[in-house]
Amino acid sequence: MKVAIVYDSSTGNTKAAAEQMAATVREAGHECTVDSIARADPAEVAAADAICVGSWTKGLYVILQGPTAATLEFIGQLGRLDGKPAAVFATYAIAIGKTLSKMSAALAAQGATVNGRFKSKGPMAADNFDVWIRDLSDSA
Ligand SMILES: Cc1cc2nc3c(=O)[nH]c(=O)nc-3n(C[C@H](O)[C@H](O)[C@H](O)COP(=O)(O)O)c2cc1C
Repeated sequence: MKVAIVYDSSTGNTKAAAEQMAATVREAGHECTVDSIARADPAEVAAADAICVGSWTKGLYVILQGPTAATLEFIGQLGRLDGKPAAVFATYAIAIGKTLSKMSAALAAQGATVNGRFKSKGPMAADNFDVWIRDLSDSA
């Protein structure tokens, strides 16, 4: 299975989390690309068997949180993703608010089946990310 992980990172936390997630995917025996949304090719990402999109949380810390505009713009460039498994992840400092549900809704609007949502308070992958990969492998 080919998994594409893309992320938007300003100070490196989300990049580090994404790279850790890519290592987990590869350890599970899959191919995995990991790129910033600035570098990733939307057509290549959309062609993967499963997609994972990450953003840092941007807001006023306690209110109005969401993914970055660049993240949502990148999702918009992916085109139709009918039935493709997808996961979203975000790093945050205090309160993540609706960041994950906004990302999830954007992917679902393009037809993706969003079945993984992960958050971490720092530069690491969420503890339960490996479960998503295992379930994905089981259903492939
Ligand atoms: C302008 C700005 C706004 C932020 N807003 C929030 C927020 O609303 N809630 C929160 O928990 N963290 C917020 N953060 C913290 C970042 O989301 C957090 O440090 C994240 O891990 C940074 O990821 P990065 O290192 O990949 O850029 C904000 C950071 C910045 C610079």
